[in-house]
Amino acid sequence: HRRALRISVIGCGYLGAVHAACMAALGHEVIGVDVDARKVEALASGRPPFYEPELPELLSEMVATGRLQFSSDISDAASATVHFICVGTPQKRGENKADLRAVDAAMTALLGIVKPGDVVVGKSTVPVGTAERLVEMMAEVEPAATLAWNPEFLREGHAVKDTFHPDRLVYGVPDDAAGARTTSLLSQVYAKALAEGTPLIVTNYTTAQLVKVAANSFLATKISFINAMAELCEATGGDVVQLADAIGHDARIGRQFLNAGLGFGGGCLPKDIRAFMARAGELGVDQALAFLREVDSINMRRRVRMVDLAREVCEGSIVGRRVAVLGAAFKPESDDVRDSPALSVAAQMALQGADVVVTDPKAIENAADKWPDLHFVDTVEEAVTGAELVLLLTEWQQYVGLDPVELKRRVKMPRILDGRNALDSEAWRSAGWTYRALGRR
Ligand code: UDX
Repeated sequence: HRRALRISVIGCGYLGAVHAACMAALGHEVIGVDVDARKVEALASGRPPFYEPELPELLSEMVATGRLQFSSDISDAASATVHFICVGTPQKRGENKADLRAVDAAMTALLGIVKPGDVVVGKSTVPVGTAERLVEMMAEVEPAATLAWNPEFLREGHAVKDTFHPDRLVYGVPDDAAGARTTSLLSQVYAKALAEGTPLIVTNYTTAQLVKVAANSFLATKISFINAMAELCEATGGDVVQLADAIGHDARIGRQFLNAGLGFGGGCLPKDIRAFMARAGELGVDQALAFLREVDSINMRRRVRMVDLAREVCEGSIVGRRVAVLGAAFKPESDDVRDSPALSVAAQMALQGADVVVTDPKAIENAADKWPDLHFVDTVEEAVTGAELVLLLTEWQQYVGLDPVELKRRVKMPRILDGRNALDSEAWRSAGWTYRALGRR
């Protein structure tokens, strides 16, 4: 029999909104708090303010039970025992460091309401040393609660599933009686996942904070490794997809995150590796992470290569050419356009004089907000009509499943660049298309 807890979730973005809804589904009483009143209003009426599969159903169901509430008033979190900090830590403008203002503000707000015996749980991705600093902030006020660091590894597009079934749980806690009590409280929060055999690592604050950035750095490195191999394949006539298949069969390497293409974007990997490098510099160990600079450069070079390839297939010039861009989100099943490789390529081509039209199943609104100068349309049909070049830049299933024969009737020139190595090259070629991809002949 599991004990239900009273939980508050501070910050209701991708991480917080999903976490709050999932915690309520586990039977806990949850209050989500955010400073953005419009976000709170949407969530309280059961509507997520962003696209995430499975979340709308879960959210409205949980709000209806009354176990899940939202508020913009921190004092509504006062009755909770466990307080999760789920605010964002974006990249600082013009710097590689993380902007921790939201984390500090969340802690300051919590200090006004926490009771002795409460646990404050950091989930946001932070530079190592932040938890230790928050502990000092907490020590300045009485009565003190205990801090835990419990990093989150969810992927956008799979956030609900990842929250219910994490690959592992990590608790960073102090090495004393309060730490032991905190561990047992967190294990009540996650009782279901633990009962299902989810591995648990209990460690100190430092390691818990490092785990998260280490994991994201490794993932980014894996992607840039295969994209570096794509550069080699381009220079030699190799095929990076077959190469990835071949090395991926080695279980020590594994095939996941070896998809060569336009590289990584989004609100996590790019800023996390940069903030990690910046932190290493502050700690006097910048050499240890010098390789991440290369990881970043390889990743950015893919975007340049994509534009070059477009010019190459357009007989040396994209000026005035009608180019249809399929995909604006940084990856499929998301409406997130933060650091989107697709939009960065589209913008670069527009800047170089191409007549670019972008479409996406979910991200048009966000994209138009950030890139008001780009031309967006709602459907693939509109985007490709009269196109002299089609670019697949985000591998949404509905794009991967497009019929090359049907599409050929709409374009002016049947030329397609597969920026994600997601299409069946043979099918497109036999339908009469010029098909080119990154890292393949
Ligand atoms: C990532 C981590 O996966 C997650 O564990 C962490 O909590 C947050 O950061 P997310 O940003 O949602 O999650 O996306 P992810 O699925 O990791 O993809 C990141 C980027 O890498 C996307 O732009 C994707 O297109 C790209 N990618 C991924 C590749 O280019 N090749 C691959 O093989 C895999």
